[in-house]
Amino acid sequence: MRMILASNNAHKAAELSAILSGLGVETLTLRESGYHSDPEETGTTFAENAYIKAKSLFDISGEAVIADDSGLMVDALGGAPGVYSARYAGEGANDAENNKKLLKNLENTPDGERGAAFVSSICAILPDGRVLRAEGRCPGVILREAAGENGFGYDPLFYMPELHKTFAEMSEEEKNAVSHRARALREFSRIFTEEMRK
Ligand code: IMP
Repeated sequence: MRMILASNNAHKAAELSAILSGLGVETLTLRESGYHSDPEETGTTFAENAYIKAKSLFDISGEAVIADDSGLMVDALGGAPGVYSARYAGEGANDAENNKKLLKNLENTPDGERGAAFVSSICAILPDGRVLRAEGRCPGVILREAAGENGFGYDPLFYMPELHKTFAEMSEEEKNAVSHRARALREFSRIFTEEMRK
């Protein structure tokens, strides 16, 4: 089956297709598909936003689609930036600006209280309209300064104590083995395989 990824984020698309290819699913980025879809993400949860993105593209294309909505939830900030992760420092903000704001807001948060989790919610819609959903979380802590050059978004500030590395210090393979998106996709793979048997 071929599936269109409802995303213009090249890093995300690469991570998703690396994992989905193992399922025999051929993935196409939104750009490659030739369709245009950029709905307003008005949901209050990752799951709602993933559905909004998937449904918008499904209505336009009628093909199998998959969308991911993800973000960072910081304990000391009551779950922020959450669904506002991409635009934490304002509409159109870049990664550096978002990271700067996060560090500023955690300036006075002691080391033992800097817990956070990345969350990824996945929603796929099959050609017959079936909606499949999965979610994954990856816990870690927020550092006081950036470390590493790889990945995107908050990766340089997100440290996994078990692996002694930030996401930005991991190779793509390492990140794909533990990330929130990988965990959501593993759950998705299970559900997808079950649905394909029906
Ligand atoms: P979305 O495109 O609406 O899902 O926004 C996701 C935002 O959350 C991104 O722009 C990043 O700021 C952040 N984010 C999600 N996943 C990751 C990740 O794997 N690493 C770093 N930041 C991430």
